[in-house]
Amino acid sequence: MPDIVFELIKEEEQRQKEKVGLIPSENNISPDVSAVLSSCLSSKYSEGYPGRRYYEGNQIVDKLENLAIDRLKELFQVPHANVQAYSGSPANAAIMFALLEPGETLMGLQLGAGGHLTHGHPKVTFSGKYFKSVQHGLDADDRIDFEEMLALAYEHRPKMIITGTTSYPFILDFARFQEVADAVGAWLVADISHITGLIIGGEHPSPVPYVDVIMSTTHKTFRGPRGAMILATDRGLAKDPQLGSKIDKAIIPGLQGGPHDATTAGIALAAEEATRPEFKTYVRQIRKNADTLAATLMAEGIKLVGNGTENHLMVVDLTPFSEGLGTQAAFAMDIAGIYANRNVIPNEPCSPFYPSGLRLGTPLVTTRGMKEAEMEKVGRWIARVIDIVKGETLPIDKKERGPFIKTFKQKAVTNPELLAISEEVKAMASQFPLFTWGGE
Ligand SMILES: Cc1ncc(COP(=O)(O)O)c(C=O)c1O
Repeated sequence: MPDIVFELIKEEEQRQKEKVGLIPSENNISPDVSAVLSSCLSSKYSEGYPGRRYYEGNQIVDKLENLAIDRLKELFQVPHANVQAYSGSPANAAIMFALLEPGETLMGLQLGAGGHLTHGHPKVTFSGKYFKSVQHGLDADDRIDFEEMLALAYEHRPKMIITGTTSYPFILDFARFQEVADAVGAWLVADISHITGLIIGGEHPSPVPYVDVIMSTTHKTFRGPRGAMILATDRGLAKDPQLGSKIDKAIIPGLQGGPHDATTAGIALAAEEATRPEFKTYVRQIRKNADTLAATLMAEGIKLVGNGTENHLMVVDLTPFSEGLGTQAAFAMDIAGIYANRNVIPNEPCSPFYPSGLRLGTPLVTTRGMKEAEMEKVGRWIARVIDIVKGETLPIDKKERGPFIKTFKQKAVTNPELLAISEEVKAMASQFPLFTWGGE
């Protein structure tokens, strides 16, 4: 009798097959990367770096870690790579600990403007608590306001500027970030977690010539295991030849113990997979799917921040229906078989917990092989769901919000219209495997 854990994994696999996943940070790994992750490598301990370990028996692990490092250096044309960070947040912490002293000034994009928590979000994150954080925002077109950024940089003189986004639908202009950083002599770090695959596939400009350090998670558009890479560029090493070793030391002994060797090997494999022609085809299809989904939603009368997308994601602005509708819409979409996440919109009028938007992305559905025809269907299903929930206005009285959402959810799980859509979604989604190489 298999343990309940295996039964629950089977259930989760079924859920993933029958539903359409639009969370932009999620992706499915290849069967080969999956095999690496469940290999004997997950049992090894290897504190230290290749050739300098605190534990014996790392002859093979050293070769694998060097392979991962060499492949990333080649792929991005950079002189230094670290693959040991457990994930994106500790990787950003390590970069900050390497280059800043506690209390020094850090600048990043506001969360509500599409930035990430680890980019200096105040009060609740390490990046906002242990450093002095200056947050910049967007202009009237919902794009990064470089004039405001430059003025803030002159005023606060940050020692580090971290660029990078989690819910920003436009191309990032790294040359302009460089101008701001150089104007005040700041370190410039690009967190490309969301767009790494797009950069490798040529669908987004590379930050390499403009920045000192690059961080990327390895599990989003890079399509590898859950982990992170930290790269130091020629520009960064020219400023400080010790940059690479400062980053390595910030990871261990600074922040972590033993690296996850199976993840390291998975990153080495994903780096090879990303060089294949199929990866380029895959990334091109992510963009085509995002454009099609955006166009379908807008044709259905749904407002998107920035009126579309230039990358793999879009942010739906639900305020023309009602403020604070994101929770209801995301929950109802999940009942209808399409899962995404509620999200704040620029100048959010409600609250981060009850935001007014949705974030939708195409990396995962593209990995499954869905194309423009499926994106049109998905866009129309989302429009039907929004039509069903658009009158479910969040109470103005904050005390009434929790009970309102609870009652809304109880009703939504048995809503016949949502359940009818879920049957249509299931019939379509079940036809697609969880992984295809080129999105075909
Ligand atoms: C831009 C960006 N940086 C960092 C992270 C943090 O990565 P992790 O969830 O692996 O800690 C994320 C995660 O979504 C992200 O989008």
